[in-house]
Amino acid sequence: MTTIDPRALRSAFGTFLTGVTVVTAHDENNAPLGFTANSFTSVSLNPPMVLVCVANTSRNFETLMKATGFAVNILAESQIDVSNTFARPVEDRFATVGWNKGPYGAPILNDVTAWFDCSMHKTVDAGDHTILIGQVEDFATTATPGLGYARGAYVTPSTAAEAIEPNPNLIVSALIERNGEVLLLDDGDGGLALPEQQVKSEGVSAALAQLIASTGLKAEPGFVYSVFERGKHQHISFMCQTAEGEPSKGRFVPMTASGFARISDPAILSMLERFATESPLGNFGMYYGNQHSGEVRPVIKEK
Ligand SMILES: Cc1cc2nc3c(=O)[nH]c(=O)nc-3n(C[C@H](O)[C@H](O)[C@H](O)COP(=O)(O)O)c2cc1C
Repeated sequence: MTTIDPRALRSAFGTFLTGVTVVTAHDENNAPLGFTANSFTSVSLNPPMVLVCVANTSRNFETLMKATGFAVNILAESQIDVSNTFARPVEDRFATVGWNKGPYGAPILNDVTAWFDCSMHKTVDAGDHTILIGQVEDFATTATPGLGYARGAYVTPSTAAEAIEPNPNLIVSALIERNGEVLLLDDGDGGLALPEQQVKSEGVSAALAQLIASTGLKAEPGFVYSVFERGKHQHISFMCQTAEGEPSKGRFVPMTASGFARISDPAILSMLERFATESPLGNFGMYYGNQHSGEVRPVIKEK
């Protein structure tokens, strides 16, 4: 048997791109406890179950083994500070973050992307960690993009857009999807188009925020879905998730051949056709190229 170097193994495990969570519970005196964890996995839909692995050396280990439940808080992209606070030996980790008790009793942090409040189904010994398997008693989710983590560093997919240099030939468009439909606007020539906007000196993120606001919807910018050239313009299309609201212009169109029949731009049409096939699978690729040719490379789902 080959000997395994734990440090090399840790680095190899770290290549797996994950989200970041804060796992919370309370002790027998009802004081909140929590720690940062990326070992979260969804386990079962019916019954609804999740798991997370806790180090046997955790200061909270004994309390967690006795706990009747725990919550998993999926951190939002803006919550790097929260992740760091709950990973360091800070005296009172809850002092710097707003929170409330969840319906099943574990602390739910403010502004998280999603949370799962669980009863303890089972704990399973697993080497130097213990697997906590929770039965989901209640949960909530938002459109806010989640924080990512890989190779020991945080991954912030939508704020990474700020690094793109604005230039007069840059256009952002918003792929706003809801329940299998996508928001399209009249293009003024009898056709349909995605909401799009030229990027001026304000930068990509600000232009995208303005564009989303102009639709009247509350949507969160997500990942870059497609980058392509159209004439002299460089076009970047962002996936945006919308939770609520009715569009003040345009309308949601089903992602079918008839829904797409009036799309005027062939590049946008082929992008949306691809989106329609990938969307139900949650299995996205990213298109690199121009309006005539290019290739689809798989996206590392930086959720
Ligand atoms: C991104 C990230 C992910 C982590 N994932 C886990 C994990 O899944 N399980 C775990 O036990 N510790 C994990 N840790 C380490 C704990 O957060 C850290 O050791 C913390 O201080 C434990 O606190 P406690 O001893 O108060 O429980 C992670 C840390 C970071 C920064």
